[in-house]
Amino acid sequence: MYVFKAAVLGAGTMGAEIAQVISLSGLPVVLKDVDEGQLGRGMAHIREIYGRRVQRGRLTEHDAEDRLALVQPQLDYKGFSDVDLVIEAVPEKLALKQAVLGEVEAQVSMTALLATNTSALPVTEIGQSLARPQRLVGMHFFFPASVMKLVEVIAGERTDEEYIDSAIEFVESIRRVGVRVRECPGFLVNRILMAGLAEVLRAERDLSLEPREIDAVVAASKLAPMGPYALADALGLDIAQDVAQTLQAAYGERFDLGDRIANLIAQGKRGAKTGEGFYTYTG
Ligand SMILES: NC(=O)c1ccc[n+]([C@@H]2O[C@H](COP(=O)([O-])OP(=O)(O)OC[C@H]3O[C@@H](n4cnc5c(N)ncnc54)[C@H](O)[C@@H]3O)[C@@H](O)[C@H]2O)c1
Repeated sequence: MYVFKAAVLGAGTMGAEIAQVISLSGLPVVLKDVDEGQLGRGMAHIREIYGRRVQRGRLTEHDAEDRLALVQPQLDYKGFSDVDLVIEAVPEKLALKQAVLGEVEAQVSMTALLATNTSALPVTEIGQSLARPQRLVGMHFFFPASVMKLVEVIAGERTDEEYIDSAIEFVESIRRVGVRVRECPGFLVNRILMAGLAEVLRAERDLSLEPREIDAVVAASKLAPMGPYALADALGLDIAQDVAQTLQAAYGERFDLGDRIANLIAQGKRGAKTGEGFYTYTG
């Protein structure tokens, strides 16, 4: 299956980045959100990514404008009838994902491929709201998608093999590396990442360490480009918490993040996207 036009649902942390990657490969992409402010911020973020590519000499200003023009921001489903692939990137809530995908299914053609960017929810359950669940795949990009090459591709119990093949082909066509991963809570990468984050939060509490100290040591070790607190802030603390809860329900207390992150969220501090999380962000 060829993808001539794609759509992304949700213009947040991930949706905007995914739309940028798709547009960079020369494909038109509709970016839909329900919140005008989020849509504006998503488009501003895409513009910023292109701006950086121009600054680094990787794209001419003219080419960057052309690619940016391929992203169509909107609040409705206009133009979805000829979309070949929809990637859902709305918040990590099962009922919301089911509702949104059920809604979009009525807008697209019978053959369109549907994908969810869920971090940890079962693709099979997300597909329960669909008339044709065989066309739903997990297509899990990592933050920041404009940089990270890996994409986990996951089949639900009812996904048809031909849609998995199409998903892998699409991922490769946008210059990413698609890795087929078995359906299980957290898939592969988040299962490792969240176990590590839970352990770090326990060490902080038990040894009275400072996040800044831990991040500095991890970054200096060069084992990871940034420390776990900076990473959690970048991912979004609410998203990290939702993912950890799914994993805790499946695998038990080794995924328990304690109340450290929950306390920050209760104060409205959801990480870099809200200007504050473990760290404070300006500009
Ligand atoms: N943040 C990460 O690092 C990361 C990484 C990989 C995967 N994910 C997954 O990607 C998904 C999105 O995460 P995010 O961090 O981008 O969340 P986010 O909160 O930054 O953005 C979600 C966006 O969805 C929009 N939205 C809500 N309801 C909608 C609807 N009905 N239709 C269209 N848009 C709607 C919101 O307005 C918001 O702009 C989640 O499933 C998450 O687990 C996140």
